[in-house]
Amino acid sequence: RNRLILRKTVVLVGMMGAGKTAVGRTLAAHLGVPFRDSDHEIEQAANMSIAEIFARDGEPFFRRKESQVIERLLDGTPLVLSTGGGAFMSEGNRRMISDKGVSVWLDAELPVLWNRVRHKDSRPLLRTPDPYGTLKALHETRAPVYALADITVPSEAGRSLDEMARLVA
Ligand code: S3P
Repeated sequence: RNRLILRKTVVLVGMMGAGKTAVGRTLAAHLGVPFRDSDHEIEQAANMSIAEIFARDGEPFFRRKESQVIERLLDGTPLVLSTGGGAFMSEGNRRMISDKGVSVWLDAELPVLWNRVRHKDSRPLLRTPDPYGTLKALHETRAPVYALADITVPSEAGRSLDEMARLVA
């Protein structure tokens, strides 16, 4: 039958709250491939939450782990990989991803992002006196970098999942 064959790992990038994990899961199910989440892999290996890793070992340590996880997963069987919001900011990560995968930017508007993250305490970068302002500033500085991704998908509607599956296939 017309079984879909995925030859490259699909790497979802974009801001916290863009829906990378939720969309990634659905996309992986669509494509019939495994799903991985870089934050989750790091947490499992360290047996600590992202917030605990930031607090205990610092962000540079977290970023090294993140790059290692991405490299390892890109070297394995093709799958769908969702990454933390900062992962695509590293030029080294972008190079690995473009060499071995296909990058997809889940592009969501600031109000959507804010609504998804405002009630959660799991994002250490937003533990500031003005989390909304912090999110807005991150969004503004990062958007032009996310725009370097191979594919940009507006993260909103459910139809974008099918769109993505088609684009990737
Ligand atoms: C980060 C996003 C988080 C997590 C860490 C740093 C970022 O992942 O990796 O808190 O730099 O934007 P999500 O995008 O899944 O929230």
